[in-house]
Amino acid sequence: MSDPSKETLKLHAAQAALQFVVPGAILGVGSGSTVNVFVSLLEPIRSTIPGAVAASKSTEAALRTAGIPILDLNAVESIPVYVDGADEIDPDFSLIKGGGAALTREKIIATASDTFVCIVDASKRVKQLGTFPLPIEVVPMAINSITRSIARMGGIATVRAGVVTDNGNLILDVRGLSFVDTALLESELNQLPGVVTNGIFAKRRADICICAGVDGVTVERRPAT
Ligand code: A5P
Repeated sequence: MSDPSKETLKLHAAQAALQFVVPGAILGVGSGSTVNVFVSLLEPIRSTIPGAVAASKSTEAALRTAGIPILDLNAVESIPVYVDGADEIDPDFSLIKGGGAALTREKIIATASDTFVCIVDASKRVKQLGTFPLPIEVVPMAINSITRSIARMGGIATVRAGVVTDNGNLILDVRGLSFVDTALLESELNQLPGVVTNGIFAKRRADICICAGVDGVTVERRPAT
């Protein structure tokens, strides 16, 4: 039998995430192709979901199609569960996110949520973050100054062509930085004036990793550190 396709793995991870949806509670929903599969599975249980806070306009549209009301984060008191994908996840459940340019709203909602359930296929699991180019959302006027600052840190930043974020900003994709201390790198990048968010999720890591691979789906809680 041939190995399951990436799409099948996304479906398996998304299906496993349904067990974490709390009936009657607001749901936080991230962005990306794996999340889109997850949202497509919510339609049959939409009556149990009073509303969702979404990390991108595209997720909002998908949720509306599934019949789930969209709520503003400022109108919500608590989000018990946030479900989102990732571009990389390390053994401590720190992440790189932002391949879909939605990193800022993703980090805001993830941080406001009690439990972050990360749904990935096995190709996203890495020993150390940093192979995937790190996305950074930047205020447009700061693009050149931040590119120079990143060069001084040892990185090479490229403006993502044709992309404007939901917040009206640009994305730099950065290679070459050292990821030995991811939490420190996350903080240092945030200090650069004009950086809105960087795609390292080390301060707000995932709590649960649902990983779909050729051998099946694993559901793991973050190791205590
Ligand atoms: C969106 O900005 C990203 O953080 C996504 O969550 C991440 O890129 C994973 O996307 P896929 O599920 O499409 O791989």
